[in-house]
Amino acid sequence: MSDEIAPFKVEFTTSEIESFVVRARAVLETGWLVPGPNNAEFERRFAKFLGVPQTVAVASGTAALEVVLRALKVSGRTVLVPANTNYATAEATIRAGCRPVLYDSGLYPDLRAIQRVWTPDVTALMVVHVGGYLSPELPELRRWCDQRDVALIEDASHAHGSLLNGQAAGTFGAAAAFSLFATKVVTTAEGGVIATADPAVATACRRYRDQGKADDGLHHVVFGSAWRMSELHAALGAVQLDGLGAGLTRVGQLVGRYVRGIDHPRVRVPNEVGVSYSGHKFIVITDGRKARESLRAHLLAAGIRSAKGVYEVPLHRQPVLGLDDGDGFPLADAFATSHLCLPMWKGLTAGDADRVIEAVNSWTYGG
Ligand SMILES: Cc1ncc(COP(=O)(O)O)c(C=O)c1O
Repeated sequence: MSDEIAPFKVEFTTSEIESFVVRARAVLETGWLVPGPNNAEFERRFAKFLGVPQTVAVASGTAALEVVLRALKVSGRTVLVPANTNYATAEATIRAGCRPVLYDSGLYPDLRAIQRVWTPDVTALMVVHVGGYLSPELPELRRWCDQRDVALIEDASHAHGSLLNGQAAGTFGAAAAFSLFATKVVTTAEGGVIATADPAVATACRRYRDQGKADDGLHHVVFGSAWRMSELHAALGAVQLDGLGAGLTRVGQLVGRYVRGIDHPRVRVPNEVGVSYSGHKFIVITDGRKARESLRAHLLAAGIRSAKGVYEVPLHRQPVLGLDDGDGFPLADAFATSHLCLPMWKGLTAGDADRVIEAVNSWTYGG
């Protein structure tokens, strides 16, 4: 029996490891542990990669979301949040003092569902690029927001390097939050980074991440927190930026291989014209929970461990949030129960991708 194929692996190249060791040694030798040259380099190069004037590194993707909401001054107002997302999207909204209202969403934000819950009090719309998949409707969503004076905020936690018609995720709205958690395409183990084209928003973000301190470093003028990124974490982020382009090219090849190879009447492969994927997840959609579990078991029997769904329990079913609306989010429920993530990371070999394709195509399901 051939080796089991993992759903995902955290891998660093030898050159990334060696560069990190050199940088980490310098950080320890200088004793400069708090935001300094590695933060500055990571922020500058990540901004260049996205094509925005600047980015702001923070302690986590969750912190990035909260800092963005605070910097955009939407506290106290209503923010539309998709039902199909990570707990953090809603958590940050609540912690920033906003009132989250859920809209129904599947893989993509749904404009009709957004329209249904919109009220004049809505001041921001959160969209999440689930798994790194960008909605082809993003420009339309942006226009919809502009017409209502609503800030579009991208939770781009999965979408480092995803593109829609050549435009990078993180550049469609007023500001965007990326997670740099261990499983992400660029990782600092724990970390986050904010992208914005607005210098005033960037300045506000820097203030919030450093306990809300004024330039004098003495007075706390806004309600910030300890949301800084350490130099060791930033060093790990910086060493991955050299290889990011090559990694995305590799992911693009694997995505293409899956898209061309998977051919099964009961397996849908989302793949939109004009979109390049970050490769955080590779999603396939089946007919429902029973079919999904059957496919998962079939893959496992073939030595392929598929990842959990991106989110198998949407926000309206998360007890702590108290946003339960029974069956009021059919798109989110349908997506949560019917999708599966096939193995995907930049080091996955073509041979292993072919094994996955063969296994999917040989699945028989009579349910
Ligand atoms: C969509 C989304 N937003 C925010 C976060 C939170 O990121 P972090 O774990 O870096 O705080 C996650 C975590 O994976 C996420 O999936």
